[in-house]
Amino acid sequence: MNTIEKLAERARELAEREAAGKPAQAPEPTVPPPAAAPPEPRTPAAPPVTAAIAPLIEVDDIAKVFDVSAPWLNRVIERKPRQLLYAVDGVSFSIARGETLALVGESGCGKSTVARMLVGLYRPTRGTVRIDGHDLARLSGKSGQALRRRIQMIFQDPYASLNPRWQVSEIIAEPIRVHRLLARPTDITRRVGELLQHVGLTPADAARFPHQFSGGQRQRISIARALASQPEFLVCDEPTSALDVSVQAQVLNLMRDLQRAAGLTYLFISHNLAVVHHVADRVGVMYLGRIVELAPKTTLFANPQHPYTRMLLDAIPDTAMTGRARTPVGGEVPNPLNPPTGCTFHPRCPLADARCRRETPRLLPTANGAQAACHAVEEGRA
Ligand SMILES: Nc1ncnc2c1ncn2[C@@H]1O[C@H](COP(=O)(O)OP(=O)(O)OP(=O)(O)O)[C@@H](O)[C@H]1O
Ligand code: SF4
Ligand SMILES: [Mg+2]
Repeated sequence: MNTIEKLAERARELAEREAAGKPAQAPEPTVPPPAAAPPEPRTPAAPPVTAAIAPLIEVDDIAKVFDVSAPWLNRVIERKPRQLLYAVDGVSFSIARGETLALVGESGCGKSTVARMLVGLYRPTRGTVRIDGHDLARLSGKSGQALRRRIQMIFQDPYASLNPRWQVSEIIAEPIRVHRLLARPTDITRRVGELLQHVGLTPADAARFPHQFSGGQRQRISIARALASQPEFLVCDEPTSALDVSVQAQVLNLMRDLQRAAGLTYLFISHNLAVVHHVADRVGVMYLGRIVELAPKTTLFANPQHPYTRMLLDAIPDTAMTGRARTPVGGEVPNPLNPPTGCTFHPRCPLADARCRRETPRLLPTANGAQAACHAVEEGRA
């Protein structure tokens, strides 16, 4: 049995369990294990935890500024200034081939905006995105299309991201036609059937419409469509947050199996730390448009450095009933149109001092091999 056949069998098995309403075999991603006992990486063959060698993705100081000003006439009459919203402001990271980098953070911190810049849906206001050494902004024509084939995105809502008037066969065949991967209709039909089998559905499902599937099955169709162009890099923006917990586990396991079989590289966005713990090799914690901590998963969960990361981990419900008090993340996310000076986390930070209110911290290496943007960590008082 070759890798693809094994993969199809595994996906079928998961799909049958989903249809029968049985829980997935793998543990459900409900809560991460206690920070004191981080689990080992999933397999000895897991992708590297640093992107030091030949990264597939290199993101250098990207920013996205939205002009959210009132219309010109209103501004003139009401004497209002132009308003600029810094959704992302100086984000840098790299991702090695076969690695999963997760981005976490509260709503509105800029995760989806980063994702959209990586797939070319938004043009960065500043900075560069390099895929396999090619600057995304400089490519056009055939070379641009060839590069775009290698990058695909899976969205949060599997219903909204599928055209309800198209049969599944058309939905999955579209990227194959657009990128001219196959020409003959019989070859395209056969490929659509294979892709459906890879994600645990059947070739007969090609004749159905999206509304005839469950949420988990629809997300499988989205994954099959994303795989149709034979991508190397998948940007997954909250791909399981619209699904119930057991279906979430099945879709996450499917994505992990596909990654192992095809050597895919993932940017995985989630606000759910349990899901992040399940899928990530490294984690970037975002706050108000910036990465405030970047670390291998096990390091981050065992020994978080930034006060915001600590607050996020402290807020995870304690199902082990250890009796340790859980502290919810206090305060409100500041208005991005009027962010606080210095470190934008300072109004919520128990360690804030005068320097924090004045000076924006830079992302610097920490003693435990991570990177954090915090004066207290740098000064050794965290
Ligand atoms: N097209 C746009 N025009 C103006 N502002 C935008 C636009 N897209 C996003 N924003 C703003 O940019 C900021 C970041 O939004 P983004 O969608 O990236 O956040 P997010 O981290 O993905 O949040 P969530 O977890 O809720 O999905 C928010 O303040 C949002 O209001
Ligand atoms: S820089 Fe200061 S305010 Fe910001 S997280 Fe660190 S200690 Fe808190
Ligand atoms: Mg989002």
